[in-house]
Amino acid sequence: MGKELKIGVLISGSGSNLQSILDACACGKIAGRVVCVISNKADAFGLERAKKAGIPALHLDHRAYSGREAYDEALVASLREFGVELVVLAGFMRIITQVLLDAFPMRVMNIHPALLPAFPGLHAQRQALDYGAKVAGCTVHFVDCGCDTGPIIIQAAVSVIEGDTEDTLSARIQKEEHRIYPEAIRLFSEGALKVDGRVVTVRA
Ligand code: GAR
Repeated sequence: MGKELKIGVLISGSGSNLQSILDACACGKIAGRVVCVISNKADAFGLERAKKAGIPALHLDHRAYSGREAYDEALVASLREFGVELVVLAGFMRIITQVLLDAFPMRVMNIHPALLPAFPGLHAQRQALDYGAKVAGCTVHFVDCGCDTGPIIIQAAVSVIEGDTEDTLSARIQKEEHRIYPEAIRLFSEGALKVDGRVVTVRA
């Protein structure tokens, strides 16, 4: 068996994407394993999911730090302690700084519930509905110093249906999130992703 990628997952909430990644590792789809889960929120359900899977689950409260950089230094220290090689943001509702990016260059991924570059930032599904978009979706991308601007790895589209609410659209998008996030991590774990400027290609 080849080397296993050590994955660190950062969350703030339910952790359904975390669960899809745990499941993909457990069934051998991803040549890697989640070595730690860190939440900035004490009550994030994702911490329970991690514990259930026997994975170290840490609460690092951002309010205990003097600023974003100081918080990210603490994150980096914890991630390094567990030997993390890929940092996966899975509903981590914090803006990260250069401190984390410098520690893990082109090794931080995020999932965003919109077809970037449309609707970056908060409440992406609400933004799509308010704009009257007919197609919505999700994007897995490498994180750079901008807000949801990094090189795109995989996207999936879903139709917006008349009468959709934020909840119904989010549920349809999440189904796709749970498919494409593990897939992007699988490709990374196999060394199949090549990044050339903004453009990510998959090696044959
Ligand atoms: C996901 O829908 C993810 O796309 C979104 O948060 C949700 C977390 O759900 N992320 C963002 O909006 C980032 N800007 P989960 O905790 O069940 O995985």
